Amino acid sequence: MKRVLGLTIVLSVALMSTLMAQAGATPAGQAPMTKTTITSLADYSAKMKEIGSNNGMLGKAIQSGAAADAAKASAQLETLFKDVHAYWVEKKVDDAITFSANAVAAAQAISKAAAANDMMAATDARAKLASQCMGCHTAHREKTDAGFIMK
Ligand code: HEC
Repeated sequence: MKRVLGLTIVLSVALMSTLMAQAGATPAGQAPMTKTTITSLADYSAKMKEIGSNNGMLGKAIQSGAAADAAKASAQLETLFKDVHAYWVEKKVDDAITFSANAVAAAQAISKAAAANDMMAATDARAKLASQCMGCHTAHREKTDAGFIMK
């Protein structure tokens, strides 16, 4: 009986991986692909403005030791950057894919630090986040008289 059960499990696992491979499942080690909600520069700009204001709230929360507020802002940033990441994945722009993936990871690290009430770790992770903002802006943001555009 035990052997039959074991064999059934082995077979189901084999079948499942075959099905997943056929469905084009994401290979291990790669972030799951979600579709972006960003379809225009206006959409993108709106996301960046939300990112800007959450980043400001996050800074204030960390400085004043308000862990719950920090966690709320970093959770928002995580969601926003996942969307931004999906956008760049669709556009196939490698450095922006990396900057945005690092931004997601930094937001997650901030959430973890805030949950542990560790404001030092939150500050460190926020510095990592800030360097993603700067890196991506240097490479892909251009200031014009009519506001920021992409390059
Ligand atoms: C993966 C690339 C990328 C990352 C990471 C990124 N940005 Fe941006 N951001 C852009 C691009 C491209 C623009 C110019 C297009 C635009 O303004 O929509 C921009 C524009 C902006 C704007 C101006 C929005 C407007 O149109 O007025 C703000 C504010 C902003 N980003 C804040 C941030 C902050 C804060 C971070 C980090 C916490 C960040 N961004 C991280 C790519 C990025």
